[in-house]
Amino acid sequence: MTVDNKAIWWKNATVYQIWPASYKDSNGDGVGDIPGIISTLDYIKSIGVDVVWLSPMFDSPQDDMGYDISNYEGVYPKYGTLEDMDNLLKQVHDRGMKLILDLVINHTSSEHDWFKESRSSKTNPKRDWYIWKKPKYDAEGNRQPPNNWGSYFSGSAWKYDETTDEYYLHLFAESQPDLNWENEETRHAIYNSALKFWFDKGVDGFRIDTAGMYSKVQSFPDAPIVFPDVEFQPCKEFHQSGPRIHEFHKEMFQTVTSKYDAMTVGEVGHSTREDSLKYVSASEKEMNMMFLFDTVEVGSDIGDRFRYQGFELPELKDAIIRESEFTVGTDAWSTVFIENHDQPRCISRFGNPSKQWRVPSGKALAALQSTLTGTLFIYQGQEIGMINLPKEWDISEYLDINTINYFKAWSEKNKPTDEGYQKNLDVLLANINLLARDNARSPVQWDDSEYAGFSTGKPWTRVNDNYKEINVASQVNDPNSLLNFWKKMLSVRKEYSPALIYGNLEVIDKESKENFSYYKVNGDNKAFVTINFTESPIEVKSTSSDTFKSVVCSGDSQEESLEPKGTVSLGPWEAKVFVSV
Ligand code: NOJ
Repeated sequence: MTVDNKAIWWKNATVYQIWPASYKDSNGDGVGDIPGIISTLDYIKSIGVDVVWLSPMFDSPQDDMGYDISNYEGVYPKYGTLEDMDNLLKQVHDRGMKLILDLVINHTSSEHDWFKESRSSKTNPKRDWYIWKKPKYDAEGNRQPPNNWGSYFSGSAWKYDETTDEYYLHLFAESQPDLNWENEETRHAIYNSALKFWFDKGVDGFRIDTAGMYSKVQSFPDAPIVFPDVEFQPCKEFHQSGPRIHEFHKEMFQTVTSKYDAMTVGEVGHSTREDSLKYVSASEKEMNMMFLFDTVEVGSDIGDRFRYQGFELPELKDAIIRESEFTVGTDAWSTVFIENHDQPRCISRFGNPSKQWRVPSGKALAALQSTLTGTLFIYQGQEIGMINLPKEWDISEYLDINTINYFKAWSEKNKPTDEGYQKNLDVLLANINLLARDNARSPVQWDDSEYAGFSTGKPWTRVNDNYKEINVASQVNDPNSLLNFWKKMLSVRKEYSPALIYGNLEVIDKESKENFSYYKVNGDNKAFVTINFTESPIEVKSTSSDTFKSVVCSGDSQEESLEPKGTVSLGPWEAKVFVSV
C-alpha cells in the first residue's frame, strides 16, 4: 500500500468514544449529560483526538442504555435537549473536531410510535414494519415461539404479544423489536428519521450499530444446536450478513450517506475476509470501515462471551493480524480498537491491572493500538487506564441487561444442590468480572473528590473504588502518566503516519508468548514496534537489515538506534517504537 495522498480525514483520525450516561454530569442528578460533555471538549482535544463518537443520546426508556430508541429525532431528557446537541455540534466543530453519532436501526424500542402502531392490530399500516410470526404448538398443544433462536440477551429471540396472538422478533432485549428491513417503506422511514434528520443538523457521520444484522433469512428456520445445555441457540447464520444485507447498505449509502462528507463505521463483528470487503471496499459504496471482534473476543466463545477459555499471546497476535490484513492490496479500510462500551477495560483483559503493572501494561497496550493500521478508536477512560470493577463487588452492582439476564438464566438452571455448583458459580462470577460490559460503564474518574468528579450527586452506577489513584486530574501534569503517554503516542502516530497508520503489518517471532514485535511497512517508510507482554525483562532481535532510530520507549531506558539485525532490551511490559532512518 502506498501513502494515501488524498488524505481522507477519517483515515488519519483518532476517534474518542463517549458513552453519555457515565461520562460527565453537569447538573448533579447522577447521570452524565451533554452540557457535561461540552465542558470537557478542550480536554478531549488536548489528547490529540479528531473525532468524537457519541453513543446513543436519543430518547429512550434506557433498557439497553439508549440502544433502545423511542424517537430518533429527540434527545433523552436526562442528557439534554436538541438545543444542547446543536451546541455540542458547534463546540466540537469550533475546536476543529468532528462529531459522529450512533445509528441504531436494526431495532427500535418497543416504546417507539412505529412499534406501538405495529403491535396494535394485524391490519395496522405499520404491522409489517416489524417481524411478526404466528406461534407454533408442540405435541401437547402448548404455545411455542416460531423457532429456537436465542436472543443475545438470553432466552428466546421471540416475544409473545397477546393483543394479536403473534410473536415478534427481538435479537436483543424484549423491548428492542427488530425492524423489518424487507419493507421498503420502513427502510425509507429509517433513512429519513435516523440519518437525514441528523446529517441535516451537521453531524459528520455514524457508527452503525449491528450493521450486519438487518437481513434475516426469510424462512426463519431453527438454528443448529450448539449449546445442548440451553433451550435457545445462537442464530447468527440466519441474520448476520444475510441475503439482502449488501443491497440494503448500498441503498442507504446511495439514498442518504453519499450526499454528505460522512464517516461511517459499521459494527459487523464476525465476517469472512471476502464478506468484510463487500462492506468496506471503497468501490462497493456501502460504508467506510467496520469493527471486527477477533481481538476483543479472543478466548471467548463467539456465541457466548461468558464461556471463556483464556488465550495465549500468539492467539491475540493472530486476531490482530486477521483484522489488519484483510484490507491489504484492496481499496478497503480498517479500524483499530480494543475497548468500547461493550467490552471490559483492556488493562484488565490484556494487560496486568495490579498496582505495580497497571501503568506499564497500559502503556504497552497504548503503544500497540497506536501503531496499528486503520482508524483508531479509544474509549472514555481508556486514556487514563481505568480498569475493571473490583473483583469483590457483589453481582448486584452489575446493572447491564446482558449481565443481569445471563446471570438470571444461569441461576434458574443451576441449583445450589447440583454437583459442582459452587465451583461453576465461582467460574461464572470470575468471567463476568473479567468480561462484562459493566466494566466499561462505571463513571469516568475525573479527580479524587467524592464520586470522582463525575457528578456532585450520587451516580446512577457505582464509581470504581480506585478513583483516588486513577483519575484525570492526577495525570494531566505528570509527565510519566498514561494520559501523557497516550498523547505522545497519538502524535507519534500522526508524525509517522505512512508506516503507522497506513503500513502493512509484518509480525515477527509469531509463536513467542513473551514479545509482540512487528514491522509496519509502507514503501520506504518502516517502523519497528516491540512490546514485552511479561513481568520480566526480555531481549528481542530485529530481523531487518535496516537501521532504525528510537522514537518511543515506554519504560525507563533510552534507545538511540537499532542497528541491522540488532537486539532490543525490554523491561517488564515495556514497549519501544523505532522508525527507519
Ligand atoms: C451493539 C451495541 O454496541 C450494544 O451496546 C447493544 O446492546 C446492541 N448492539 C444492541 O443495540
